[in-house]
Amino acid sequence: MAQFYSETVMEHFTNPRNVGEIEDADGIGEIGNAKCGDIMKMYIKVRDNRIVDVKFKTFGCGSAIAASSIATEMIKGKTIEEALKLTNKQVVEALGGLPPHKIHCSVLAEQSIKAAVADYYKRNGIDPTPIVGKLPDPHGEGHGI
Ligand code: FES
Repeated sequence: MAQFYSETVMEHFTNPRNVGEIEDADGIGEIGNAKCGDIMKMYIKVRDNRIVDVKFKTFGCGSAIAASSIATEMIKGKTIEEALKLTNKQVVEALGGLPPHKIHCSVLAEQSIKAAVADYYKRNGIDPTPIVGKLPDPHGEGHGI
């Protein structure tokens, strides 16, 4: 396994940051991948347009856990607009790379953050689609749960 995964991936997988739930979250996003069946759930707490807290639960592979862990670190303390700019490519770079067949794991991290922000907008009476864009079905097409 070591030759496929960077030290950063292994470190975040073994010791993931910001795991858990935020009970009174201001936004919750859940995204799944239909092919592998992995699911990521992201909770955000927002104050004055800033993400003051973020937690995640990932029912998935080690790369998805590492990607969600590092992604939470990358958006914590950032404004909503800055968090929306986070791309899966930046997540992969921060992780020191992922094998090609694991890139989709980083996509889950980007999309679950966007889904949490979309939920935050909805709760505040704002249509998120023009801002966040269209997000995939939370459980992935044909996921069956
Ligand atoms: Fe699907 Fe990693 S294998 S998220």
